[in-house]
Amino acid sequence: MKKSLKKRVALGAYNFGLNILSRTPLVKKKLFRKYLGKYAYRTDPAYDKDVYERYSEMLAKHQIVYKDKIIMDVGSGDNYYHAYFFIKNGAKKFILCEPFADYLLDSVVLEKRGEILLGKKKFQEDRSVFENISVVSDHLEKLKHLDDSSVDIIISTSVFEHIDNVEKCIKECQRVLKSGGVMIHQIDIRDHADFEEPFNYLGYSSWNWRWLRTNSFVYTNRRRSKDFLDSLRRNKFTILQAEEDRQAFGAVKINREFGDYTQDELEVIRLLFVAKKN
Ligand SMILES: C[S@@+](CC[C@H](N)C(=O)[O-])C[C@H]1O[C@@H](n2cnc3c(N)ncnc32)[C@H](O)[C@@H]1O
Repeated sequence: MKKSLKKRVALGAYNFGLNILSRTPLVKKKLFRKYLGKYAYRTDPAYDKDVYERYSEMLAKHQIVYKDKIIMDVGSGDNYYHAYFFIKNGAKKFILCEPFADYLLDSVVLEKRGEILLGKKKFQEDRSVFENISVVSDHLEKLKHLDDSSVDIIISTSVFEHIDNVEKCIKECQRVLKSGGVMIHQIDIRDHADFEEPFNYLGYSSWNWRWLRTNSFVYTNRRRSKDFLDSLRRNKFTILQAEEDRQAFGAVKINREFGDYTQDELEVIRLLFVAKKN
């Protein structure tokens, strides 16, 4: 078996195990929520602070005011500290939307973590900040807890590359955003099996890729920057800003299914965009 295929099969088996374990009620409710959740600092508060600073700067650049607005982070994982900064600086509500919220982060775990991070005294002072952060457990394909035209700003970081039906998710963002609402999404367009080899996955046929990735805990699509931007335009978004990072191919073999893309389109490894609902 080729080395890279072995690595992928091992990753698939690992993800499958993790998936089963995380669905076990004992792990999900009893162990994680009660005891482990508050200690599981899987994300760095400095990372969340950086997300807040970068995204609020981008909003400012386009004269988009977030004071008194409702912001939602889709696929927030167990991150929440950026929400704290947005509320502290005037946002009305912050919704952390994470399909695995049941065992990653819910309002009970959120408060416990807030208390540990800020210390008891500061946490008590900022209690009202936490009261304006809510957690919903929805997939972006169907935001069941959100009404039409109910959110002002949607953000995400490293989420859209994990979504199978991108078009459906863009339509769902369009539905829940208010008229004139804005989105900022950062998309990591690399093969997640090995970030050092970001184009390796373009060598597989669609059939092979599905077999290796579907139902995996870390499903990754292979959509290129152009596909995301085209989907936005089709769904009546105006792109206010689109930043793309590129990396040269080297000697990577590309499957002929990607033959319609130019090399320039294929070489984008990160997309960061600001888009406005028309
Ligand atoms: C790489 S993590 C990024 C987490 C966080 N945004 C960050 O910056 O650290 C990808 C996140 O996307 C979420 N996700 C995957 N599929 C999703 C979907 N269909 N709808 C919403 N979120 C999804 C995962 O649960 C996970 O939390």
